Amino acid sequence: MERELALEFVRVTEAAALASGRLIGRGDKNGADQLAVDAMRSVLKSLNIRGTVVIGEGEMDEAPMLYIGEEVGTGEGAEVDIAVDPLEGTNLVAKGMPGAIAVMAVAAKGHLLHAPDMYMEKIVTGSAGVGVIHLDAPIEENLRSLAKASRRAVSELTVVLLDRERHEDKIRRIQESGARVKLISDGDITPAIQACLPHSGVDMLLGSGGAPEGVITAVAVKSLGGVMQGRLIPEDDAQLERLRKMGVANSDHILNLDDLVQGDDAFYVATGITGGDLLKSVHYGQEYATTYSVAMRAQSGTVRYITTRHRMERMAAK
Ligand code: FBP
Repeated sequence: MERELALEFVRVTEAAALASGRLIGRGDKNGADQLAVDAMRSVLKSLNIRGTVVIGEGEMDEAPMLYIGEEVGTGEGAEVDIAVDPLEGTNLVAKGMPGAIAVMAVAAKGHLLHAPDMYMEKIVTGSAGVGVIHLDAPIEENLRSLAKASRRAVSELTVVLLDRERHEDKIRRIQESGARVKLISDGDITPAIQACLPHSGVDMLLGSGGAPEGVITAVAVKSLGGVMQGRLIPEDDAQLERLRKMGVANSDHILNLDDLVQGDDAFYVATGITGGDLLKSVHYGQEYATTYSVAMRAQSGTVRYITTRHRMERMAAK
């Protein structure tokens, strides 16, 4: 893919953030999601790509827009697979809490795992964890190994997990190891990225979250030189059947970065909706709105932070 596409993709997440940001703190998570989906789809349609949504809002019969298999773009240009999460953190927007983003990952056709909507067990760290951590190693061992590799004490490490009952045992073991825990209510893509960034205050993301989010995360982790491992967790026969249809015979299999996203021809882009640790909130001023985005390219490892001013009257006229 041409590197110039990065900016085009940013326009997509900007549009989603600008639209759904109108409903920050309004208690309407579905309404906010719908605004993000509509806006994202409308800009995606105008891009010079031959895109297929491989991770989206659902199957064709359950989602009218950005459904899995939907073709987007003008039909000219690079043939790409797209994973979208127009509003990552619907509750966060509804409650006006930090951390909601509009996000998308794009890769060469056939290079993204078509992860269905189920849970994925995840472990993510920065480059210090490459060849050091393992999804199946005991938590205590992973913490000791990461501390050693990054020349710090276990007590200096911070692990982020979603605040869920299913993580109680992990949380207790991390605390007993002496490491610090940061619990989040929603949105595990951003903390995974933080785990790959020095000085972010996060060293590891652990626990189960959405598998679609896991694939999007993998593109960012690849761009940042971090490490990620995942394992799909089908919870019933229907989910097992879905995996079989995808060609995944053994759901116990550990998915490494290259299983989640093949090769390096991939982009990650996101725009802040509610302000968070990495991206500021959408801001609507009198004449223009401002958005804060990030674009990462796995091939070069380049990370760009983009602040954009959008003229309100011209946006309305578009
Ligand atoms: P939304 O789909 O409401 O935006 O939530 C996203 C998310 O918080 C992900 O970041 C996370 O991976 C997943 O949901 C966790 O799922 P659950 O809330 O079922 O634990």
